[in-house]
Amino acid sequence: MNDKILNIVKNLLSKKSTDVFIQESKSTELKKTLNIFDLLILGVSAVVGTGIFTIIGSAIVGGANGVGAGTAVIISMLIAATASLFSALAYSEMAAMIPVAGSAYTFTYATMGEFMAWMVGWVLMLEYAIGNITVATAWTGYLTQLLKGFKHVLPQFVTNFPFWLRNDFRSVYAFCDKYNIDVHDKMPFIHLPFGLEIPVAVNIPAIFIVLLLTIILIKGVKESTRVAGIMVFVNLSIIISFVIVGSKYVAPDNWLPFAPNGIEGILAGTFIIFFAYIGFDAISTAAEETKNPQRDLPIAIIGTLVLCTILYVSVALVLTGIVPLPHIDTQAPLAHAMRLIGKNWYAGAISVGALCALTSVLLVYQLGTTRIFYAIARDNFLPKNIMQIHPKYKTPHIITWISGLIVIFGALFMDLNISAELCNYGTFASFVIICIEVLILRKTEPDRIRPFKVPFCPLFPILGIILCGCFMVYKALSGGESSLYFVLWVIMGVSIYIAYGYKNKRNNG
Ligand code: ALA
Repeated sequence: MNDKILNIVKNLLSKKSTDVFIQESKSTELKKTLNIFDLLILGVSAVVGTGIFTIIGSAIVGGANGVGAGTAVIISMLIAATASLFSALAYSEMAAMIPVAGSAYTFTYATMGEFMAWMVGWVLMLEYAIGNITVATAWTGYLTQLLKGFKHVLPQFVTNFPFWLRNDFRSVYAFCDKYNIDVHDKMPFIHLPFGLEIPVAVNIPAIFIVLLLTIILIKGVKESTRVAGIMVFVNLSIIISFVIVGSKYVAPDNWLPFAPNGIEGILAGTFIIFFAYIGFDAISTAAEETKNPQRDLPIAIIGTLVLCTILYVSVALVLTGIVPLPHIDTQAPLAHAMRLIGKNWYAGAISVGALCALTSVLLVYQLGTTRIFYAIARDNFLPKNIMQIHPKYKTPHIITWISGLIVIFGALFMDLNISAELCNYGTFASFVIICIEVLILRKTEPDRIRPFKVPFCPLFPILGIILCGCFMVYKALSGGESSLYFVLWVIMGVSIYIAYGYKNKRNNG
């Protein structure tokens, strides 16, 4: 019996050696061409998106699951940036040392064994697939704002299409609650015997964009730094123009009270606005292609963080300065703010820019989901036949469909805030683990070549663990549906491992 238990524990902890990973990466050796500027573009294009275009609204005003930070969202942003910094440095050390695909999943396999690797892969799905539910929902918000601008040209059914066809049922309930409207006026119900009713609300635009991108991805899309560069240019121009145009309409009285919900609001705001900083792993994964990683990576990471934080804080100050707190929109806050001050053209331009930015985030995240699926199926944690390659397009079409369908299914039941919080849980968890891994590998493999080293180690990784860990604990203690879903997600992961992953043999090198 004891032998059996020992054997199970041995299996759970069995690692794939760092050398095997590095050997694998040698076959696809990449050219070292990236400089600080390239890394900055990569960082900004991966980071700027839904967070600043949409989630900022909920971080300021609050939602069904938490109070808002008010103008003090700027403090929330600084805290989220700091948590991101420590984790991004840890990611860079790992990525420069084990420069192979699979990100946190791969690093965990090399340091903590197969069980933790599977769990990290499973939790990363939250970051990518569930994060995409947030982005798709935000996409609907900006599409709605854009169509409103065409009210003199297009029929009313298009410019103001039914509420229940562009929201999930929770959002309809929340809206009706907020404005004291009878929910039956806004959404049809299917009536069942015994007085039972099923609410009908389907976010059609979100489903449409995810389906479209799934088909495009199956047909094959090459990521290109040129497209990323253009997207960054569009994003930054839109955000900067919002700040410049809006700043003339700021009424400082709107900034008060600065923190209407005190510390509780600031912490709840930090948890949700953290979404705006997700994407840093993109910089660290380019470590292998960086000319001078030891110098350029920290500069690019800190540079992106500083740049994003300056932009985010400026947007927050302008937004809270021009729109009184209770009126800040949570679906398309920037376009809505411009409309309020009569700048309909800017509102339209912001909506177009936001739609482009969100589409590219959706694309990158869906690609990310398929890569993680691929990596864990290749290691036998999921049935290998889902890795099938399309005979004509040569893309992993089954995995791509699964990734798209998860997002579509989620968009039927989850609203923007819950999916963002769940995504943040997944990201915080992977950040904590990455920081732990840096500490483990410094002890177990002190002599391994590290093209980049986290400065002030072990202090910085420990601070990363404490900050990200505290936010998870804080959120869990303050309740909310996302905490429950996170626990359910983890239990589901453990169950799949026990039922399938554990039994399948893998080659650990
Ligand atoms: N940081 C990315 C965004 O805000 C995920 O869309």
